[in-house]
Amino acid sequence: MSKGPIGIFDSGIGGTSIFKEIHALLPNENFIYLADSKNAPYGNRSKEEIIRLSIKNTEFLIAKGCKIIVVACNTATTNAIDYLRENYPIPFIGIEPAIKTAALNTQTKSVGILATKGTLSSHLFHKTTDLYANGIKVIEQVGEGIVPLIESGKLNSTEMKLLLDTYIKPMLEQNIDYLVLGCTHYPYLIPILAEMLPNDVKIIDSGLAVAKQTQLILSNLNLLDDATLEPTTQLFSNGDVSVLKSIIEDKFEVSYLDF
Ligand code: SIN
Repeated sequence: MSKGPIGIFDSGIGGTSIFKEIHALLPNENFIYLADSKNAPYGNRSKEEIIRLSIKNTEFLIAKGCKIIVVACNTATTNAIDYLRENYPIPFIGIEPAIKTAALNTQTKSVGILATKGTLSSHLFHKTTDLYANGIKVIEQVGEGIVPLIESGKLNSTEMKLLLDTYIKPMLEQNIDYLVLGCTHYPYLIPILAEMLPNDVKIIDSGLAVAKQTQLILSNLNLLDDATLEPTTQLFSNGDVSVLKSIIEDKFEVSYLDF
């Protein structure tokens, strides 16, 4: 018998980059994904607003019987996960920028991070950076405008390429050898970024690490559903469903939700 689906939410479609990693690692699980695209981006909102929206998303997923919730949004993790963990009786997995991996491996002692204003200004981000990036130059860049372009289906547009160019150039001038993607929408930019970056600059995102952490927590709590016969995945969006459909495989059910 199913122990309940894995619930995942994001400010929009970006968290599907995390969903894909978890689904690949745990194919026998049931999933419910919620894209709060109507309220994207979260990145420029106040902490209070981000908490309010995260509560709304969490209560939707709990009402659907989810056994665990993955907050597949860096901005919501860094601003709201403490509140969620304190107020709801199920486990929460968050997404923190992979600054540790970059800081431990950089040869040039210079790493770039692209994230939202909400993530870069959060207490959790600064705590992580202070802990791991001692003696390393961390070049923080707010990815203003990226999420709205992705949410409106303009991932591969000239507009996007020009915008990314303005963000990446100053980092390259400061000799970065790692670029950390601190927003779950950004892994969809990897093909474009790979064309812009020299070969010796590595791109890091958190997807696989989050999938492994989800597996570990479910296993520790004896909540893994490793023998579900016909696992289901439902994706909901309160925005343009066609944009969500365009980045997800056809086999998954996508529905509009007035939410
Ligand atoms: C946003 O909604 O601004 C981006 C979400 C994220 O930080 O992952």
